[in-house]
Amino acid sequence: MERVLVVGAGFMGAGIAQVCAQAGYQVNLMDLHKTATDKAVEQIRWSVEKLAAKGLVKDSPEQILARLVPVQDLSSAAQVDWVVEAAWEEEKLKREIFQELDRLAPPETLLATNSSSIPITRLAEFTSRPERMLGLHFFGPVPLMGLVEVIKGDKTSPQVFERGVAFVRSLGKTPVRVQRDIPGFVMNRIFSAALRECVDLVDQGIVSPEDIDVGMRLGYGWNAGPFEIADNAGLDTVARVHRSMQALGANHLAFTSDLIERMVADGRLGRKVGKGFYDYTPEGKRVVR
Ligand SMILES: NC(=O)c1ccc[n+]([C@@H]2O[C@H](COP(=O)([O-])OP(=O)(O)OC[C@H]3O[C@@H](n4cnc5c(N)ncnc54)[C@H](O)[C@@H]3O)[C@@H](O)[C@H]2O)c1
Repeated sequence: MERVLVVGAGFMGAGIAQVCAQAGYQVNLMDLHKTATDKAVEQIRWSVEKLAAKGLVKDSPEQILARLVPVQDLSSAAQVDWVVEAAWEEEKLKREIFQELDRLAPPETLLATNSSSIPITRLAEFTSRPERMLGLHFFGPVPLMGLVEVIKGDKTSPQVFERGVAFVRSLGKTPVRVQRDIPGFVMNRIFSAALRECVDLVDQGIVSPEDIDVGMRLGYGWNAGPFEIADNAGLDTVARVHRSMQALGANHLAFTSDLIERMVADGRLGRKVGKGFYDYTPEGKRVVR
C-alpha cells in the first residue's frame, strides 16, 4: 500500500488527507499545531460518516479513519511515497518545508505542492530533486470537488508528471494537465480575473455580492457564485493568494480594491468563522437575510 504525507491540516490539507485515506492510502496528516490536526480529524470523521450514510465510500468510516495518523513533525517523510504540501500560501514558508522534506525523504519520494499560485520551479530549485517535484492543485471542498490541476515544473520529468496524473485518478478525481509552470497556473488565473472584477463592482456599490452570485449562477451556469467560493476558500487564503500573485508579477490579476484585506482585518474570514461576504450558523449553514 502506498503511503502519503500531507503537510498542513487546514481546509485543503484535511480534505486531501481524507480523499487519500478513502482511496486506500496510508496517510500521515501533519500540522505544527495539534489543535489543527485534532480539528481536521473531527472534520474528516463528520464528512466520511455523511458520505458513508449515502453509500458514497467503499469502506466503513472506521476503516478509513484507521488509515489516517495525525503527526506534528515531518519525520514520517522518511517512509512515504508521496508528499502533498498544503501549508499557508507563503513562498518562504513553502521553500523551507520543501528543503526539510528533501533532506528527510528517500530520493524516490515524490514531492507535490497544492500551492494556488507559486510556480513549482521556484519551490523545486532549493531541493536536490526538481525532476521529482510537481504541482497537484486540488479544489475545495476536496471531498466534493472533482478537479485537480497537475502542474509540470520546468524540470519535472515526464514520468513523474504522468505519475501525478495517475495518482489523481486513483483518488477518483479528474486531472487537468498544466504543461507550463506560470503563476496561478490555469484555473486560479481565470478565477482571480473574475473575482477581481466582482470585488471591484461590489466595493464601488454597484451591486451586492448576493446579486453577483445569483447572476453567475443563472447567467453563466456556475454551480456556486464567486463570493460563495471565496467564503468557502477562506478570505485570509484568498488574500494570501492575491499577495502572492502580486509578488510574482501577475499584476493584471491583482485586486484594485482592498475590500478583501479590510474584511480579513475585521475578522470576516469566511464560512470557517461564521462570517465573510455572508453570515453562517455555527454548523456552517448560510444565514438567509
Ligand atoms: N482554500 C482553498 O480553497 C484552496 C484551494 C486550492 C489551493 N489552496 C492552497 O492550499 C494551501 C492551504 O490552504 P488552506 O485553505 O488549507 O489554508 P488553511 O489556513 O486552512 O490551512 C493551512 C494550514 O497550514 C498550517 N501550517 C502553517 N505552517 C506550517 C508548517 N510549517 N508545517 C505544517 N503546517 C503548517 C497551518 O497551521 C494551517 O493549519 C495554500 O497553499 C492555498 O493557496 C487553497
